[in-house]
Amino acid sequence: MLKNVSHSKGLEEEILFETHFDYLFRRAASTPSQLLPEGESTIAALRKLGALMADPGTASVPLPDRDSATPAIYTYFGQFIDHDVTARTDRDGSLTEIGAGAAIHPLAPQQVVAALTNGRRPQLDLDSLYGDGPGLVAGGGSGNGQSETRTRAQDLYDGNLRLCVFRQGKRLDLPRRTDGSASIADARNDENIIVGQLHASMLSFHNAVADAQPANLDNARRYVRARQLVRWAYQHVVVEDYLPRVCDPAVVADVLANGPRYFGSAGGHSRLFMPLEFSVAGFRFGHSMIRPFYDLNANTRRDIGDLLGGGAKPENQQDGQLRPELVIDWKRFVGDSAQKARIIDPKIAAGLFEIPFEGRAGDPILAHLARSNLLRGYSLSVPTGQALARAMGIDPLTEKQLLEGESAELKALFDEAYFDLRTPLWFYLLKEAAVQTGGQTLGAVGSRIVAETLVGLIKESPNSYLSNRHDAAVTGNGIQVGPGSAGCITDLESLLQFAGVL
Ligand code: HEM
Repeated sequence: MLKNVSHSKGLEEEILFETHFDYLFRRAASTPSQLLPEGESTIAALRKLGALMADPGTASVPLPDRDSATPAIYTYFGQFIDHDVTARTDRDGSLTEIGAGAAIHPLAPQQVVAALTNGRRPQLDLDSLYGDGPGLVAGGGSGNGQSETRTRAQDLYDGNLRLCVFRQGKRLDLPRRTDGSASIADARNDENIIVGQLHASMLSFHNAVADAQPANLDNARRYVRARQLVRWAYQHVVVEDYLPRVCDPAVVADVLANGPRYFGSAGGHSRLFMPLEFSVAGFRFGHSMIRPFYDLNANTRRDIGDLLGGGAKPENQQDGQLRPELVIDWKRFVGDSAQKARIIDPKIAAGLFEIPFEGRAGDPILAHLARSNLLRGYSLSVPTGQALARAMGIDPLTEKQLLEGESAELKALFDEAYFDLRTPLWFYLLKEAAVQTGGQTLGAVGSRIVAETLVGLIKESPNSYLSNRHDAAVTGNGIQVGPGSAGCITDLESLLQFAGVL
């Protein structure tokens, strides 16, 4: 059982901020016919559906036909974004309980909105990397969280305001405490070895950008300017590189040019919030992109189950840091010859059904990623796929499309549980991707939820690159974080190159 890894109970001290959750489509969430049928039979059906979503592939059965065209790094860039923008729909607490023995029932939407707060600032400002800035105290947290934050923020930086990161030749790792846990602003980024090394790469990127600033800047000014450039470069990569790979590029372009239709003020919402449709279902699409195994470098192949627990796992450490043989060669994750992410469809890699984290291990629901996603959606009253399609004026998938290629067992389950008419949103969006794009990107409803949320958050923030086009660093091609063409960040690959890790 792994401690110090989040998505669990008892790790609230990691939460630095509290912002709002709400529903993009509150009316749908408040209308029983737009939700899954309530009752024990639905709970049993969701558990069974989760089990039926297992992908048969393993390291010994690679199934290359299930690869997409998207390089594998974008799966973990997605996870990194998730941890930057949303937290707390993912754990059992006083509001939502889905683990074994819990009396699972759908919560009233107004209760969810009043009682569930997001543990992240959602504006893609990298609070997961920076904490609240050196020496600053996070606002809005619990008393306990604040004192923790003060200590932790200091732990993130060295005396010159560079972000702490472990680098020894090619060996790259998160900074670690003596107990092996990562000293970073969101422990979820040590949840597996890949997202951990991506976080370490982002720490290195910040330091490289700080080094590239004019020599006459003192440490404080250098830090502030570097942080601004890093945030802008990251947001640019999200909008221009990541989103068109995982969403319908036409939807991304439309949201960029014309603004969101449903998110923010256009949707009649008066305050900024993280949509539950995004956190509980839409952005969890990334779980289906996870491969059952990865080639970390020329000599090391590991099943995904072995990568969980990240560098905090004692067997993954040597002298208190990540073992050299587990250090990622990013050339195997980014660029044309990289191993690929899985297609987006309702199949989840086998290693994700026995999650070993503290508070989850051994639990038939919490240790099982497909079941926990489905039951979390039920418990938090997320509307069905059909309800959201109709709310967006999009024709819902037909029964034939929903069941295309599925097993007889799944078809019978859908019939019994009425899931053909009221499909759990997470499953619906995965199936929509498979039916409409062969799993290369999300489909019509999924692309809208994801692109509107992420582009909407960036557009609405006065500090984002989209709101600061007058700054000389915000160019038509990318963000100029340092001198020359290498200093212009256009995509994830150029970011890693500038960080010196590729
Ligand atoms: C090996 C990789 C990953 C593991 C082990 C993992 C595991 C988990 C777990 C255990 C949860 C909580 C489930 C629950 O009880 O509700 C969760 C939540 C979540 N995951 Fe993942 N995940 C991974 C990758 C990803 C990726 C690639 C994405 C998106 C591209 C993603 C997006 C999310 C989101 C949005 C949540 C909800 C966060 C919140 O609001 O609290 N995850 N994940």
